[in-house]
Amino acid sequence: MDQSLDQNKEISALHKINEFLGCIEDLDELLQLIMQEASRTVEAEASSIALYDSQQKDLRFTVSTGEKGKEVKEIRLKMGQGIIGYAAETRKPLNIVDVSKDERFHSDVDKKTQFKSKSILAVPILFKQRLIGALEVINKIGAPQFSDADVRLLEIVAGQAAIAIENAKLYQRLFQKHEALKTKHDRLVEMQKKMLRMERMSAIGDTTSRMVHDLRNPLCAISGCADLLKMPALSQEDRETYARIIGDEVTRLTGMTTEVMDFVKGKTTFLLRDYPIDDLMKEIGTYLERDFQPHNIKLQVESNFKGKACIDKAKIQRAIFNICFNARDAMTAGGSFKIVTNQVDSMLEIRLMDTGPGMPPEVAAKIGEPFNTSGKAHGTGLGLAIVKNIIAEIHKGTFTVESQPPREGEFSTTFIFKIPIAKPAQETSTPT
Ligand SMILES: Nc1ncnc2c1ncn2[C@@H]1O[C@H](COP(=O)(O)OP(=O)(O)OP(=O)(O)O)[C@@H](O)[C@H]1O
Ligand SMILES: [Mg+2]
Repeated sequence: MDQSLDQNKEISALHKINEFLGCIEDLDELLQLIMQEASRTVEAEASSIALYDSQQKDLRFTVSTGEKGKEVKEIRLKMGQGIIGYAAETRKPLNIVDVSKDERFHSDVDKKTQFKSKSILAVPILFKQRLIGALEVINKIGAPQFSDADVRLLEIVAGQAAIAIENAKLYQRLFQKHEALKTKHDRLVEMQKKMLRMERMSAIGDTTSRMVHDLRNPLCAISGCADLLKMPALSQEDRETYARIIGDEVTRLTGMTTEVMDFVKGKTTFLLRDYPIDDLMKEIGTYLERDFQPHNIKLQVESNFKGKACIDKAKIQRAIFNICFNARDAMTAGGSFKIVTNQVDSMLEIRLMDTGPGMPPEVAAKIGEPFNTSGKAHGTGLGLAIVKNIIAEIHKGTFTVESQPPREGEFSTTFIFKIPIAKPAQETSTPT
């Protein structure tokens, strides 16, 4: 054969198989393409590939081109068995003109496929001297046997096939590992969800008792106002005031029950609207006056921010009350509580300060984590976790605390909320 023609064929075979490299991850599909390319390159009627099974130490016909290709897929050969097995065992090419006259020929494949093999050329597939398998082409078209140039070409095809097969196997292994990891990860997520649900369920009991405790304040106010409303001598103005208090307390009760239900279901609903902060401070002040009085706690409200901020009013109220009730619980012998609002850059800053004993350092270190409670008979440790969710998640603000042991004339614990005055990116409710 013309030498330049041979070289052209070699380059073309290399080029073609290189195309498979890295782009075909399915091993069967890749082997099929290698087969096709081997037959086409050396002009053969059919071809087969056998992969070496390093555990069984035998060969497995993985694919074969030609009409009965699928049947060949099932056959296993011992090392050294058949022409292809011989090439694999000796790691050398074997070029047979008439296989019927060669005792190494293994006729099982022909019987199964009803294919008549005559000339066969087989070459080993090696990757860094390691046996990957062997490749054979059957029946040279238009000639009685395969030439030396065909041997060389098939060796090139086998060399490239080795790299492609190794890549595909590596990919398969990675894919399997990835799948196994994914399954583990999914299982973990499922377990986490279950655990969270269990934690919630056990928290429901505690939360319910806390809620019953918290419900007492608004219920007392409602029943007190209802009694007052019965008085015939009441002025119209007072009547309206008591009716408004009842309305406000009912709203608060509804908010509290919704919050508990949301917590149980694991969802958060909110609506951010521009709200006048000074009005909010007045409302909170009126409520806290009443709440703090029996506990001997003096309240100061310094409402310096007179504008509107984009907030969910009920949620911010809940966050502030959670801080206030903690302070009330902490100041068992009474004390002072101060709320200060200010604008700091584009943020509304709310400082909530008390003269209590200061936060225990181990609690302060885990502030905002659920079930972080200390020194309370009925504390569930959810109050500050709810505050964190309201300020950081819902309002995209920050929530910090500064706490020190009590000192004469100083506040010991200061909670600081910083909330964007303008509407943050998201606006309405999301399930969590
Ligand atoms: N102002 C404060 N002074 C001192 N300790 C505080 C103060 N605020 C919070 N703490 C500590 O932080 C802990 C966590 O508060 P958090 O509100 O999250 O839970 P809790 O009050 O224990 O329970 P609950 O879920 O009923 O609110 C409290 O148990 C308390 O030890
Ligand atoms: Mg609390």
